[in-house]
Amino acid sequence: MKVFLTGATGYVGSALVKNLTGAGHTVLGMARSDESEASLREQGIEVHRGELSDPQSLVEGAKRADAVIHTAFPQMGPDTDFEEMMGMMTTAVAAIVDSLKGTDKTFILTSGAGGYGPQTDATPLDESTPIIAPTHAPNEQIVLGATSQGVRTIVLRPTIAYGYGGSLPVMGWFGISREMGGGIYIGEGDAVISSVYIDDLADLYRLALEKSKPGEAYNAASGSATATKEIAEAISEAAGLGGKTVSIPPEEIEKAGFIGRLIATNMVVSTEKAQRELGWQPSGPALLDELRTGSYAS
Ligand SMILES: NC(=O)c1ccc[n+]([C@@H]2O[C@H](COP(=O)([O-])OP(=O)(O)OC[C@H]3O[C@@H](n4cnc5c(N)ncnc54)[C@H](OP(=O)(O)O)[C@@H]3O)[C@@H](O)[C@H]2O)c1
Repeated sequence: MKVFLTGATGYVGSALVKNLTGAGHTVLGMARSDESEASLREQGIEVHRGELSDPQSLVEGAKRADAVIHTAFPQMGPDTDFEEMMGMMTTAVAAIVDSLKGTDKTFILTSGAGGYGPQTDATPLDESTPIIAPTHAPNEQIVLGATSQGVRTIVLRPTIAYGYGGSLPVMGWFGISREMGGGIYIGEGDAVISSVYIDDLADLYRLALEKSKPGEAYNAASGSATATKEIAEAISEAAGLGGKTVSIPPEEIEKAGFIGRLIATNMVVSTEKAQRELGWQPSGPALLDELRTGSYAS
């Protein structure tokens, strides 16, 4: 299949380029700069120039392919107007989905397990759990709402992705831990979170592309969920902080920036559906092993 991939130069997108082309699919990668275009061309990828703030550029890319996988996401900084950014994302998603109506082409939205909102216990959530976070719900509604209008819609809900020494949330956790002199966790550090090895995640996108029925959502996680305090200890070791950890009181969570909200409460998902329906078999190394002895170890 020929896939128009937004965010092709990103962490998730790069893994997808490798996985999809390795399986015989063709990728039309979106680039928004000369630098990104050159990097995609070096990988032998056809390029479509586009920008999230220019919906027509996305529509033109979608026209050139059989399927769209949307992973582009704007960088956030201290001055980012969050509402404005989310509005741009929703406008972009709506424009692509509208242009696909009646074509039966595939649209895969990258959502996230954070869409389930804070979990009070660590019972794994399945895909029937309502998506309530305002960061995720509008886009999922637009996408899944188009299933009856001739679009093969699929939503993926990854947990924190890891591997190859990268991923924004993991690097952010490292960054704040270095600033604070120890691996950070919130409160007692007993919140438990799922995470997904990046190559497992890429496999799931491909299997969904090849096999999913329209209108389905799939959680993505590898292995078992891990206590945030244990992750903080492993991050501390990998960052050369000697295993020292720092507890941030819940009332001071803003000290930990966006990572604080991500690790303050449980986020545990079931992946039974993807394994049963798509034959997905996540087999990557565990997050703690990657931190202690793998790609993040210093
Ligand atoms: N990483 C994780 O752990 C994780 C977990 C769950 C869900 N997700 C979701 O997965 C998606 C991808 O995440 P990621 O980690 O791959 O992010 P990333 O590494 O920051 O990649 C973002 C991609 O979006 C592109 N981009 C940024 N602003 C753009 C704009 N204005 N117009 C067009 N393209 C733009 C970037 O292009 P440039 O190279 O030109 O900057 C890059 O290719 C996001 O929706 C994220 O929320 C990620």
